[in-house]
Amino acid sequence: MMKGSEIRETFLRFFESRGHKVIPSSSLVPEDPSVLLTTAGMQQFKKYYTGELDSIKDFGTKNTTSVQKSFRTSDIDEVGDESHLTFFEMLGNFSFGGYFKKEAIEYAYQFITQELGLKISYVTIFGGSDNAGVPKDEESKHIWRSLGIKDIREEGMESVFWGPTGTSGPCGPTTEIYCKNRDGKDIEVWNIVFNEFFYKGSREELLSGNSDKRLENLEVPGVDTGMGLERLTMATQGVSTIFETDLFRSLMDLLPRNMDMRTKRIITDHARGIAFLLSDGVRPSNKEAGYVARKLMRRVIAYNVLCEDAFDPLELLKKVCDLYASFYHELSYEAVSREMKTESERFKNTLDQGFKELGKFKIVNAQSAFKLYESFGLPYEIIKEVGGEKTTDLKRKAFDEEFRKHQEISRAGTEKKFGGHGLILDTGELKAGSEEEKKKVTRLHTATHLLQAGLREVLGSEVEQRGSDITPERTRFDFSFGRKLTPEEKQKVQDFINDIIKKDLPVHCKEMSKEDARKTGALFFFKEKYPEKVNVYYIGKDLDTAVSKEFCGGPHVTRTGEIGHVTISKEEAVGAGIRRIRAKIDL
Ligand code: ALA
Repeated sequence: MMKGSEIRETFLRFFESRGHKVIPSSSLVPEDPSVLLTTAGMQQFKKYYTGELDSIKDFGTKNTTSVQKSFRTSDIDEVGDESHLTFFEMLGNFSFGGYFKKEAIEYAYQFITQELGLKISYVTIFGGSDNAGVPKDEESKHIWRSLGIKDIREEGMESVFWGPTGTSGPCGPTTEIYCKNRDGKDIEVWNIVFNEFFYKGSREELLSGNSDKRLENLEVPGVDTGMGLERLTMATQGVSTIFETDLFRSLMDLLPRNMDMRTKRIITDHARGIAFLLSDGVRPSNKEAGYVARKLMRRVIAYNVLCEDAFDPLELLKKVCDLYASFYHELSYEAVSREMKTESERFKNTLDQGFKELGKFKIVNAQSAFKLYESFGLPYEIIKEVGGEKTTDLKRKAFDEEFRKHQEISRAGTEKKFGGHGLILDTGELKAGSEEEKKKVTRLHTATHLLQAGLREVLGSEVEQRGSDITPERTRFDFSFGRKLTPEEKQKVQDFINDIIKKDLPVHCKEMSKEDARKTGALFFFKEKYPEKVNVYYIGKDLDTAVSKEFCGGPHVTRTGEIGHVTISKEEAVGAGIRRIRAKIDL
């Protein structure tokens, strides 16, 4: 029987021997800031479909293949059933104008039926959409027929039209291959996408049918395929669920025999997710990818407390690293275990109190559930699980709504008074415990805007903010960029900042609608949901000529001369494609 790791290799060799260049997986933290985590193999290739990058130049061929680490937060609530996962590996082959439908379908057919010896149960093709103006995919139907496939089902935009990912991107009709598991259930194993279009909007807008944006034809159509390794392994090994494949068995074996199946699946899924997210530089926090990592970590920790230490989360994480390290060299048990231990300590302190508090409620609604989350860190799922009948009416959507409301409130109120401790500033980005410290972080905050402007000036506009953290001692700024900066580049950025400081330019703040603010070209975080009215801070005489414009909650100095001389003290990598700079103000 073929092991999961052998299927992975067989796949890569199959396409390599057919003129594809093998490309390593990109990080789970994507370059594209409009996407939270990498959800598909095509993401790292987006610019090759649009022609912004040249595949021949970069890879020596128009065709590539990869095994991509992928993470889908949309499936998080489904984990525990037979087939859903958060983290999974996606096998894919891609072509940027090299070949199209005929070859793509024939390769897939050969691989499934000849290399793996599987039987195709049925396939789907795109049935056409008047709304989107895309006709039925007759060509694919014809190709499948010529290969002897009889059961060809036509479906619509929702299920067999891929993309775009993020706020815009390539997209197009797909054809999917279904095989059976041991119980005879049909499982979708392969999704073959024909990227023919580009859409300047999100998938939601495209599917809503009420946007004026139209699909534009890509100059050269491309192929993007995705096949979950875990599901394919299930079909190949002839088992009923992915958790019975060799990819999961050794993890499942580390859990108590009598633990219920759903819990086992959640824990093993999350252990993989945690190990891979942390190894790609994600750290538990209350925002974005960090929130996802924290959620997985806390859920595993809470289950362990609930079943009285019947298993060892660290042992599971060690196993994940051992199983995968030969293929994914970035896996680091040292970093993973260190973060997990810290998070456990942090969380266990409040967990018992949280359970006690939960015990006091007769009914738990969205507001009280959010309070339990906020005060004690209890994850939604654990509240549901421990709360039992008290939570019957508690729904994920209402909880998420509370979460979102809270985020907006905390952004709006950046300054809080705490009894007796003076004025404290804590926006998640800036931290200060006294008036004195507040002055320092304010100067560093404006310096951080200049730092971003300087980086973009010197390195180009692909530099985008990924995060920042400002204390009275220094600013720390994370941004997307693919390599180490040269000493000359660092110097140029530093000079840019100090030059503007010397010019003593005014810093202005203007409130405007989100829409208008975007039109000014002000920088913002794609991932963040902004309220309808936002503040734009700009540095310079007026908005048009400003050297820096950003959506921001403040506070800032009134003139750049107040900042003082800035020095870049350190520049390093914090993940694939992400750099971190520390800078300070000289006394
Ligand atoms: N990008 C396609 C998917 O992820 C292949 O399903």
